[in-house]
Amino acid sequence: MRTTDLVNSAAKFIQIHTNQSYQESKIEAEEIFMHVLGINKSKIYTNISISMTKDEHDQISRILNKRKSDIPLSYVLKKHSFYNHEFFVDENVLIPRPETENIIDQIITQGDKLYRDIKRCNFLDAGCGSGCVGITLAIERPSWNIFLSDINMNAINVAKKNSHLLNQQDIKFICGDWLKPFKPKSFDFIFSNPPYIALSDQRIDKSVLNNEPHSALFSGVDGLNDIKKIILSSKKILSDQGILLIENGIDQTDKISRLLQANDFTDISVHIDYNGHGRFTSSYKK
Ligand SMILES: C[S@@+](CC[C@H](N)C(=O)[O-])C[C@H]1O[C@@H](n2cnc3c(N)ncnc32)[C@H](O)[C@@H]1O
Repeated sequence: MRTTDLVNSAAKFIQIHTNQSYQESKIEAEEIFMHVLGINKSKIYTNISISMTKDEHDQISRILNKRKSDIPLSYVLKKHSFYNHEFFVDENVLIPRPETENIIDQIITQGDKLYRDIKRCNFLDAGCGSGCVGITLAIERPSWNIFLSDINMNAINVAKKNSHLLNQQDIKFICGDWLKPFKPKSFDFIFSNPPYIALSDQRIDKSVLNNEPHSALFSGVDGLNDIKKIILSSKKILSDQGILLIENGIDQTDKISRLLQANDFTDISVHIDYNGHGRFTSSYKK
């Protein structure tokens, strides 16, 4: 059988057994063949046929069967690409989202300005999960002091593993409840992608609901429990003129802006994601 036919039939299998479009399923099928056969994408389409060993064939079948049970491919392959770096992921951490990847450039722009002004950037990624945000920034901005925290020690262990895999040994890790472990004025920049989904939200994808950690997703009746805690404590933990940048639900920006104003934050800006939704809110401590 031609390689492209094998990939196409795997894509159809994934499409039939998951909630995904053919296009999305095809991308996954290509990823599975590249992973198991150790080839790049062009090889799939330039090689007329590839001879597979029985072991490779069995591996592909096992992966497809896991996808049939709707386990996300990133958990099956134990890896996910974020800002061009490969992160280890497992069921202890949220699979990094493209929305979050899209805010990295904005964080760098705001952090660089701060660094120019005060010659320092003590940066906290609060609720780090896999560590995708903080570790990416450690790679992109080696002069910043990067701290990663999470309440879940299993998530911290995944983030630590990623810091080793990506050669970032200077990062500091703290396990604790949001900003409670830190002294006043500890950070110049706090980023958080906290849980922000309302408990009653019916729109959440079944595969996400059944596989990803609920402690990374849900936050009380309106989804704002954790964001409120972070805003209230950031006032103390940020240095003067420090930046708070939060990822949030698309219908939460008005409430969050009001909360920030009430807590003496200024220059509040809403940043849109690639779908044109207000997905992030940044502000400065007065
Ligand atoms: C939406 S996930 C974000 C993970 C990662 N930053 C990302 O963008 O992929 C939220 C993270 O917040 C952590 N978390 C939940 N409650 C927390 C708390 N009270 N204190 C610190 N971290 C918390 C969860 O364990 C989870 O790893």
